[in-house]
Amino acid sequence: MQTITSIKNSKSKTPLVMITAYDALFAKIFDKKVDMILVGDSLNMSFNAKSDTLSASLDMMIYHTKAVCAGAKDTLIVCDMPFGTYTDENMALKNASRVYKETAASAVKIEGGSKRAHIIETLTSNSIAVMGHIGLMPQFVRSDGGYKIRGKDKADIKKLLSDAKAVENAGAFCLVIEGVKADVAKEITQSVSIPTIGIGSGVDTDGQVLVWSDAFGFFDEFQPKFVKKYFDGKKLIENALKNYADEVRTRAFPTDKHIY
Ligand code: KIV
Repeated sequence: MQTITSIKNSKSKTPLVMITAYDALFAKIFDKKVDMILVGDSLNMSFNAKSDTLSASLDMMIYHTKAVCAGAKDTLIVCDMPFGTYTDENMALKNASRVYKETAASAVKIEGGSKRAHIIETLTSNSIAVMGHIGLMPQFVRSDGGYKIRGKDKADIKKLLSDAKAVENAGAFCLVIEGVKADVAKEITQSVSIPTIGIGSGVDTDGQVLVWSDAFGFFDEFQPKFVKKYFDGKKLIENALKNYADEVRTRAFPTDKHIY
């Protein structure tokens, strides 16, 4: 099983695999087959049918993280800190401590670069491991006026590089780079000593993360270009469900094999 130290030591080695999970059932399937499981606040969209992640609460994240920890006992688990739960140092420490006390997660994830470095430093200096997250940050969708690909001009590239350095210097063990032009994500990866985990940021990061319901075809309301569909989950479930419903309606199920 990976630890915070072994992840830190994975820089420039075999790419790290991270996937999201939100419940024990799927966490159990993913257990030991990936390096890290992220209980992402993306659950607010894929599992809670909200249009963005902003209304996810800390209680929700703790509930789902507990379930994931119960299912995946041999995988390093990271809990996303939801919007509005780490706006100042005291609040961040109180809320991240709740995650450590109430769940078995090994780390929390925080969106933001230089402006959030003091928060990351407060947590890491109080023995809470932090995964950073820069680039396209879903918790900024309303204030930024949408989801915007990052790293398109010189000023933004400079900002991203300084954000990555600030997160590293604050003590984060790992850094998610989301929605950043591939060549820029490569440059960021080369500029920091901690492993980077890309999403929609090309192949040259130290690992990749995908939201499981996107990767396995269960969430098809929109499909970002960076998502590869490894499985047609929705279609397969719909077909199986139709078979079940047809068999119930025609009394083909249950048969003698299924009764006591
Ligand atoms: O919430 C989430 O699932 C995430 C990943 C997309 C990195 O933050």
